[in-house]
Amino acid sequence: HPSILHPPSLSGVRVLVTAGPTREAIDPVRFLSNSSTGTMGFAVAEAAARRGARVTLVAGPVTLATPPGVERVDVETADEMLAAALAVEADLVVAAAAVSDYAPAEPSDQKLKKGEGDLVLRLRRTPDVLAALGERRRDGQTLVGFALETHDGDAHARAKLERKRLDWIALNVQGEPGAGFGTGTNRLTLLGRGGQRVEIATAPKAEIAAALLDVVTAAPHDAAP
Ligand code: CTP
Ligand code: CA
Repeated sequence: HPSILHPPSLSGVRVLVTAGPTREAIDPVRFLSNSSTGTMGFAVAEAAARRGARVTLVAGPVTLATPPGVERVDVETADEMLAAALAVEADLVVAAAAVSDYAPAEPSDQKLKKGEGDLVLRLRRTPDVLAALGERRRDGQTLVGFALETHDGDAHARAKLERKRLDWIALNVQGEPGAGFGTGTNRLTLLGRGGQRVEIATAPKAEIAAALLDVVTAAPHDAAP
């Protein structure tokens, strides 16, 4: 991709990236989570830092190394991710985290012992980090979300774009070869608030990250109609 050789500068741009899963405690040794590896978010953080942006990466529990020049804030839960994200002043937000939508409502402070019967857990809704940022959005800020969908991808992703007041949403279709969780490559469709639809073909996540930054940081008049 040409932007890997001659990337446009993001010097002075403050970027917030959320990445990875969150973990919601059931008891001191057990949690609810998902299989996000954080790779896509880390790739976006790395690509933005390489272009000179001031990048804060709010990361759930992942095993990845911090990209060079990136300020990293580690969190575990959705509540912690919300607090960390709200503390960052950003011009561009890329929310790649797979935030758990629910958390055990009454986590046990002691390890649960098993009984004879089934266990019923009541779950509470966690805060929506990206929607909270959308509610606080200010002029000139660009908000980008991700949507991993298994069906009716465009419609679900567009609904999220509206609901969370985003500029762009990157749609991932789970089940497609070479896309989604745990793969080295990805394929995205970027849907814009102005009705834009930009396909980013299957490529290593570093190239996808560069292409995503190209699209979401282009001046509005550069964007495809
Ligand atoms: N997101 C977030 N906080 C949450 C849930 C989601 O910041 N509690 C962000 C994700 O990082 C992603 C976008 O919102 O950028 C869409 O996430 P997704 O899980 O696809 O959407 P939901 O609104 O949670 O809807 P659902 O899971 O029901 O499809
Ligand atoms: Ca969700």
